[in-house]
Amino acid sequence: MKDAPTAADSRPVESEIFRSRAGDFVFAGATGVIVLLGAVMLSDLHAGAAAALAIIYGSGLFLRYFSLREAAPVAPGITFNEEQVQKFERLRAVLNALPQPVMLLDENDHIEMSNPVCATTFGKEVSGRHISAVIRAPAALDSIRTARHERTVQEAELSMLNPDERTMLFYAAPVSAGQLADRGRIIVMLRDRTAQKKLERMRTDFIANASHELRTPLASMMGFIETMQNHAKDDPEARQRFLRIMQSQAERMLRLVQDLISLSAIELNEAKTPSDRVDLNETALSVCDMLAPIAQARGGTLVCEACADPVPVTADRDQVIQVIQNLCDNALKYGGTGPQVTVTTGHGIPPVEEGFRRTGDTAEAIAVRLGVDIRDVAWVRVQDRGEGIERTDLPRLTERFYRIDVEKSRSVGGTGLGLAIVKHILQRHRGGIAIESARGEGSAFTCFFPPAGR
Ligand SMILES: Nc1ncnc2c1ncn2[C@@H]1O[C@H](COP(=O)(O)OP(=O)(O)OP(=O)(O)O)[C@@H](O)[C@H]1O
Ligand SMILES: [Mg+2]
Repeated sequence: MKDAPTAADSRPVESEIFRSRAGDFVFAGATGVIVLLGAVMLSDLHAGAAAALAIIYGSGLFLRYFSLREAAPVAPGITFNEEQVQKFERLRAVLNALPQPVMLLDENDHIEMSNPVCATTFGKEVSGRHISAVIRAPAALDSIRTARHERTVQEAELSMLNPDERTMLFYAAPVSAGQLADRGRIIVMLRDRTAQKKLERMRTDFIANASHELRTPLASMMGFIETMQNHAKDDPEARQRFLRIMQSQAERMLRLVQDLISLSAIELNEAKTPSDRVDLNETALSVCDMLAPIAQARGGTLVCEACADPVPVTADRDQVIQVIQNLCDNALKYGGTGPQVTVTTGHGIPPVEEGFRRTGDTAEAIAVRLGVDIRDVAWVRVQDRGEGIERTDLPRLTERFYRIDVEKSRSVGGTGLGLAIVKHILQRHRGGIAIESARGEGSAFTCFFPPAGR
């Protein structure tokens, strides 16, 4: 904790320990000088030596007195012995090490003490300031007032904008023991809940999105069932048409449920880093073989340009396949009519497309994260020559259920979870993804994986 630099409190009333040390020093020093003078007068060697020892002892006490005076905390009306000073030092070390801001307020709400994290949290030194100059939220000031008045711990959630937007949990607790309590002091603590809040919001958004995605095809199926029971009861042709639509809706629901299961399975295993040796060349080739008929059916091509050397990575083979497959599926779906899709593999820095905007990870960042040489970072890249992606959409593509054109995605059977799955798989592998695109030129998705020894 830093002592507040207010004149009233930083002017110490000396504690007993220091007074007794000062007395000892004066006594030993004065005795030494008197004995030394006597020894000189009597030319007594032994007395001279005793006087010198007394002076040395006196100087030792003098130095110790000042070092303690420097290091020791002193507060008005409080006395400490040496053991208490040490305890205080330990307590100060604990408070300084705390990751959340802690402050001690005096009876007028001035910050008497604060730990170093306060300065980083509030972007300025806080000791000595009035609390309202540091935290402006009325809820915080109300909590302090109530805590002092009712002598109970108060809690409030604050939305702070300075120095950046955050949600903080604020506690105000009255000091309950000893002389500090008599003066109405309050301990203030804050806990950053920004990440937790974001997670909660994501979770509720996710549930809302997932239920919405399931409700739409379900509602449409209910509608068709009703029509078939009534108007279309005796129209076999219409019934066949409705059944086909219902089948495709049911398939979409099944795909969505499978994607959700897949996502939660990846999340469940996220802490378990994969350890198999997988060759990106081999997985890329097998996905291209698997999807070539689909590319052909859409009047396009899916070509694999594997690196000449093997590209071994430490990975989960099924998940690497899932990543490449999701990216190829997108490239074939959104890569325009007669999509031309290329899958490339390699090590180090992947090629850069002239004029493409970029978002996501870089080979350099991945090399640092994995602690490997940048030339060893392994990647697989899926590129199409489709309509491309707007700059504003680029950073949001990997969000769950985010689709640029929801109707278009639905019409091609999309659930909006493909890239979220890709991102989670790469997170589990401690890899990353980079997305590049230019309107009218196409898009490139590059996935980085940790290399396995070549
Ligand atoms: N290669 C691409 N070119 C243009 N837009 C793309 C491309 N890949 C993805 N997108 C856009 O990103 C959105 C999200 O893709 P994502 O794969 O997550 O979902 P989806 O393809 O709609 O559904 P799913 O993959 O779950 O079946 C797509 O809806 C599309 O708008
Ligand atoms: Mg997709």
